[in-house]
Amino acid sequence: MKSIQDLHLRAKRVLLRADFNVPMDDQKQITDDIRIRMVLPTIRHILQEKGRLIICSHMGRPKGKRVEEFSLAPVATHLETLLGVKVALAPDCVGKEVEVLVGKMTEGEIVLLENLRFHKEETDNDPTFSEQLAELADVYINDAFAVSHRAHASVVGVADLVAEKAAGFLLKTEMDYFHKSMDEPVRPLLAIVGGAKVSSKLGALENMLDKVDRMIIGGAMANTFLKSTGVDVGASKVEDDLLEKARLFIDAAEAKGVKLYLPVDFVVAETFAADAVTKNVTFRDIPSGWMALDIGPASTILFNEALEDAKTIIWNGPMGAFEMDAFARGTMALCQSVASAHALSIVGGGDSNAAVKKSGEERNISYMSTGGGAFLELMEGKMLPGVAALA
Ligand code: 3PG
Repeated sequence: MKSIQDLHLRAKRVLLRADFNVPMDDQKQITDDIRIRMVLPTIRHILQEKGRLIICSHMGRPKGKRVEEFSLAPVATHLETLLGVKVALAPDCVGKEVEVLVGKMTEGEIVLLENLRFHKEETDNDPTFSEQLAELADVYINDAFAVSHRAHASVVGVADLVAEKAAGFLLKTEMDYFHKSMDEPVRPLLAIVGGAKVSSKLGALENMLDKVDRMIIGGAMANTFLKSTGVDVGASKVEDDLLEKARLFIDAAEAKGVKLYLPVDFVVAETFAADAVTKNVTFRDIPSGWMALDIGPASTILFNEALEDAKTIIWNGPMGAFEMDAFARGTMALCQSVASAHALSIVGGGDSNAAVKKSGEERNISYMSTGGGAFLELMEGKMLPGVAALA
């Protein structure tokens, strides 16, 4: 995979695929701009090299229709503020008007194309749409790690239709950190997997079992594992159809010599509400009708034991319903422990990143990935189509 630094960009039309799919509030204010800021080094490099910069991105899932709510206009304004350079928002991402606008660009100028997903051809990886995008450019740069698991036109189709292609700095950094933590880790390597559903993480869990020395499983998905060993988890969320798989997974971990850590106590409540009455109980004492919504203090102590001398930590998924303060303590404690570990720590996924942000420990994590689905697919051991397309 070539890096952007391997290419000469002067006077060339550079099509940069970014992932500016950022969260916004009702006033269309960007509430977290990390995905934009992480692409700035690539943008600045292209400008310094005197390329003509055409940026494209998706926003949300408008399902092939023009939906104003998903316009990239707020991103154009924000990017302009961050860079202190004019960013022209094109009326669309392909078509005559866009071609004229791009045709008039001079060196060092920036055009942001409107949301790619206003055309269903983007998600269909339509060859004609890919050609239309390719015709706008001499060079294609993918710096959109967070969408590189999607075989879409702007991620895959376009790559072979442009004269030169390479990875931007963000994509390269993401892949390098992942490689360092999973393929050449300093051991012990600890994986922390949490979140609501075993079903969405089973592939990742199974793949990681062949790589890690230790694994912590927390969040609602831990209930399924506990129930598979005969624990009565009360009214806690469980995926009953996965009990057998969970049981086999526990056996496989033992057979492979991976030390598996499951919660030993919980914060439980009868209702899933911020003001619910809560209790701390051991895993054997979850009252009937109550549900586990966070790990308890004994689990935090146990998990700290796994973290203590870990040299590499990879984390995806929270320990409980941390968005409500009543159920945030376990996840917040874990953020602190990961942050203070003498280890290379990598956190990925929207919820875990939000949790780290809430804890104020972002600066003490070695690397916070910008990917959600893409990060999980790497954990599953899959090759990302967007990365493969750069080969
Ligand atoms: C993300 O937010 O994970 C990426 O932007 C991909 O978005 P998608 O899941 O809608 O493809």
